[in-house]
Amino acid sequence: MNHSEKYGLFRDKIENALARYFEAEGIPRALRNAMAYSAGSGGKRLRPILLLAANELMQGDEAEALPFACAVEMIHNYSLVHDDLPAMDNDDFRRGQPACHRKFGEWLAILAGDGLLSYAFEIMLSETAKAGKERSGALVKAALAIARGAGVSGMVGGQCADMENENALDLEKLYYIHERKTGALIRASLEAGLLLCSPDDERLKAIRRYGECIGLAFQITDDLLDISEDAGKPTRSDEKNVKLTFPKVYGVEGAVDIARAKVEEAIAALGIFGDRNGFLVQLANAILTRKS
Ligand code: IPE
Ligand code: IPE
Ligand code: MG
Ligand code: MG
Ligand code: MG
Repeated sequence: MNHSEKYGLFRDKIENALARYFEAEGIPRALRNAMAYSAGSGGKRLRPILLLAANELMQGDEAEALPFACAVEMIHNYSLVHDDLPAMDNDDFRRGQPACHRKFGEWLAILAGDGLLSYAFEIMLSETAKAGKERSGALVKAALAIARGAGVSGMVGGQCADMENENALDLEKLYYIHERKTGALIRASLEAGLLLCSPDDERLKAIRRYGECIGLAFQITDDLLDISEDAGKPTRSDEKNVKLTFPKVYGVEGAVDIARAKVEEAIAALGIFGDRNGFLVQLANAILTRKS
């Protein structure tokens, strides 16, 4: 199986599982529609795929990892719904379609984000509660890694710094923002996949390093796509909001060079996993040439 076939296989499993979660009883129809609209349409599914791939590195149990992968994707999609709101980036389109608040109105978009976030934790905790004594410790660790990556010193903290530093030009803040608003959840996804397999410290450290490096490279390429003409979402959002970005500080070439160096560093960190690491190596390289 080649890289894109494997990526597609992971993606299909995640999308099928996600769809089942949105069919659950008890969700008000309007809320379900807005949540499913946002999480069900066209994303790359990078974070849950990273989680499943990290889990596979250590021959984990995919059925056990899949709910955590769905939870991470829900958290990611909540962050996008809120990120597009008028009070934040004020963007009208996401993945070529009207942003959630443009389609459903602001209050429902806020609640859809809240719903996706809380559903993610409900899923992870219910899996942990169901697990036997032997497995529950590993599941708690995975959930905690995701909570930290998503939370106040991770993605939410980064989003706060991103908003506070509109109009700023500060190198330290630039790294701070990108590492947290994007890097933290990417790293946490990988960590969670591995933590389900009770890894040793060396392997955990290696996957964290890989995650930090591709996380930074991924947000740098997001900044580059924002100023390129063929991106899959509205361009020039960063310029409109006077965001602190890598191309703004380093120029396009400089930003590309940093992303490339980070991808190399990421790949080097994977050595410890031997010949099982091929998928994650290719995935890191693909960040440099992505078009959406
Ligand atoms: C967009 O993330 C926001 C960032 C954190 C860079 P993705 O580019 O992963 O978004 P989708 O889910 O594939 O649309
Ligand atoms: C957002 O960064 C990161 C999130 C945590 C949502 P951006 O604001 O650059 O993401 P896009 O470009 O709107 O997808
Ligand atoms: Mg933003
Ligand atoms: Mg945005
Ligand atoms: Mg962006």
